[in-house]
Amino acid sequence: MQKYQNLLVEEADNILFVTINRPTALNALNQQTMQELELLFGKDYADRNDLTGVLLTGAGDRAFVAGADIKEFIGVASSGSGKQMATRGQDIFFLIERFHRPVIALVNGFALGGGCELAMACHMRIAVETARFGQPEVNLGIIPGYGGTQRLNQLIGKGKAMELTLTGNMINAVEAHTLGLVNYCLPAGEARAKALEILATIGTKGPVAIAESIKAINAYYAGSDFAEEAEAFGRAASTADFMEGASAFVEKRKANFSGK
Ligand code: COA
Repeated sequence: MQKYQNLLVEEADNILFVTINRPTALNALNQQTMQELELLFGKDYADRNDLTGVLLTGAGDRAFVAGADIKEFIGVASSGSGKQMATRGQDIFFLIERFHRPVIALVNGFALGGGCELAMACHMRIAVETARFGQPEVNLGIIPGYGGTQRLNQLIGKGKAMELTLTGNMINAVEAHTLGLVNYCLPAGEARAKALEILATIGTKGPVAIAESIKAINAYYAGSDFAEEAEAFGRAASTADFMEGASAFVEKRKANFSGK
């Protein structure tokens, strides 16, 4: 029996290829998918010292991940458990950020909301030219809750992080590259080849040094306030505005916010 329902997992030449596989929902992160990411990075592969690294991508050619699953997530506001959901998501993404081998996001399309946050939790990002990035949560009346308010600052600086988060605007892969959000922006075939080339180089280095480098670089950002993000997400997710924003998305109409 297939262990993972929403992840395709393959291994070749000591590289783990992980594909988020819900293309009809643009690979949106529902709780099942989050649970599987937790299992993969936190348990199943956590002690695999023979791995060189992980290549994480989305199924199909439209999306890396188009965010948290909004349809599933509407229930969270009514149950008042937004903070809990954000903390859990943050913890799962910490497993990726702190993974002992490099995780490269191959961003093959939309990386929005939780998708952009997932890519940012990876150690490097390589975008295909058609990829689009954004933190569109404000369109729904909420805020990024899986680390986006912290990691976007880290990668592109405060001014641009403010602009992207407060406008919800999407940027293309060239802009993402100019801002430092992605390491490379390349045509589809070349993007994957570049990721494999980087992993092949890393595979020739001392494995202990690789794991210690990841730890030490992460340590620089230890002062980030993920707890405040989860609190703020919880407050925003319990508003009437979120119910309106999420309903508007499902009903494919423009949201009409009341500020309550
Ligand atoms: N959660 C749940 N379902 C999602 C989703 C998400 N985050 N993003 C896309 N989908 C679903 C759509 O509802 C649609 O399903 P349907 O065919 O049953 O209606 C399907 O994926 C295709 O998306 P659609 O919106 O029809 O494609 P599009 O090309 O018109 O637009 C996007 C693409 C990415 C711009 C648009 O889907 C979008 O804005 N998604 C939400 C992004 C977002 O706000 N993410 C943050 C969430 S916190």
